[in-house]
Amino acid sequence: MITTEPIQPDCRALVLFGATGDLARRMLWPSLYALDCEGLLPGDFQLVGTASSPLGDAEFISRVQEAIRSSANAELYDETRFAAFARRICYVSVKVAEPGGLAPLARALRAGEGGVIFYLSTGPQLFAPICTALRDAGLVDAKSRLVVEKPIGTDMASARLVNQVMGTSFAESQVFRIDHYLGKEAVQNLLALRFANAIFEPLWNATAIDHVQITVAETVGVGGRWPFYDATGALRDMVQSHLLQLLCLVAMEPPAGFTPSAVRNEKVKVLWSLRPITHETVATHTVRGQYTAGFSEGAAAPGYLSEAGAAPASDTESFVALKVEVDNWRWAGVPFYLRTGKRLQVRSSEIVIQFKPAPFNIYASVGQVLAANTLLIKLQPEEMITLSLMHNKPGLNEVRLGEVPLNLSLNGAFAGNRRRISYERMLLDVLRNNSALFVRRDEVEASWQWIDGIIEGWRATGQKVKPYPAGSAGPTAAIALTERHGHSWHE
Ligand code: BG6
Repeated sequence: MITTEPIQPDCRALVLFGATGDLARRMLWPSLYALDCEGLLPGDFQLVGTASSPLGDAEFISRVQEAIRSSANAELYDETRFAAFARRICYVSVKVAEPGGLAPLARALRAGEGGVIFYLSTGPQLFAPICTALRDAGLVDAKSRLVVEKPIGTDMASARLVNQVMGTSFAESQVFRIDHYLGKEAVQNLLALRFANAIFEPLWNATAIDHVQITVAETVGVGGRWPFYDATGALRDMVQSHLLQLLCLVAMEPPAGFTPSAVRNEKVKVLWSLRPITHETVATHTVRGQYTAGFSEGAAAPGYLSEAGAAPASDTESFVALKVEVDNWRWAGVPFYLRTGKRLQVRSSEIVIQFKPAPFNIYASVGQVLAANTLLIKLQPEEMITLSLMHNKPGLNEVRLGEVPLNLSLNGAFAGNRRRISYERMLLDVLRNNSALFVRRDEVEASWQWIDGIIEGWRATGQKVKPYPAGSAGPTAAIALTERHGHSWHE
């Protein structure tokens, strides 16, 4: 949690690899700036940007300035505050693949007591080489921390290899694998809802819950990332990380404490409990889709195969829907429906907990139908938690029942609070050495193992992508996936 406790200065610098990249520009520099504005960076904390291109400090700093001014944190921009922030920053050009290529970095880092945080905001193919180069350059010690973005590998075998190489330079306790969904405010609220309130726990199981839905819908297409995306697809890009992490938080047992090992022990148990989807079940449990030309947010949108840099044909999915089963005592028989896609109708990330209907309708005799209760945890675009309850509409004559939402969101209670970039929390947790909301090695490998089974099933059965027009709700087969079991997607 973000507090204003003074930071213990056990870190003296953050080195950002990929410092001129898109993520650094949109998220990381604006987040670091916000932390500095709130006095959350240690006094003499150094920020070293690195990339391969040669750039002077002044030019780099002006890029950082521009990034902050055009970011979600632009409202925090202030000349004096930025000038103080800029004094922390320097830039070094490095050549990771060359012997001695990190020497300029070693020279740029000021000596000091605290450890150095190495943040790899680079292509995943560079994770292992950078870790090895850091070790060979003598830049890693027991106080160092390593922060890596996703994806770690593209399947179980490659993820294991990357983890192994990282492990030769950094102990697991020094590694922070980011899943930025875990930094979103609504995800914190989901944890608080489950583990800071006693009323939900007796209901949080197969006896009371009918099914769970997790949706991450985007309106954007693949944009300029076509070659990367085409080699990846929605299952690897989104389900392996964000959707499975959300599923873990919904399904996990109460941890023994809010500590990194306790939280992550419970999450990995959920991953171990996922029933494998194999060549025998892919046809009934998965739907793959790919967008065609259509209209998105009021404008014509090209199809996946007409995006810049696209090949003439591709079988990569830009949409996936899954029926997932969690084989354990708490969840046996409760389907978890997952779906995610690009170029969908609306941008919306949400978790829906659908409770079972009332066992008997005493109002049936007066023509009233009861809707089952729903707990909606909305992550994007707005963050809120809503519990829908049945109530009696005011009036003297007859019983008239209707659904009303009980809004559990904190927006009202904490109005005026700035909406934070999720990376602010993640970066602060790295500084505080709190890895509870970062993904542990066994979680990454367990999730890849499960994902590999689906990909193998698709390969074995030749399951093709189903077209859906840009701006739609996805392929119609995704509707059938839930309707077969008497369920429908929350819209
Ligand atoms: C990234 C994926 O991890 O998450 C992108 O690689 C996706 O494809 C993005 O667009 C979505 O993040 P957010 O926070 O915008 O929902």
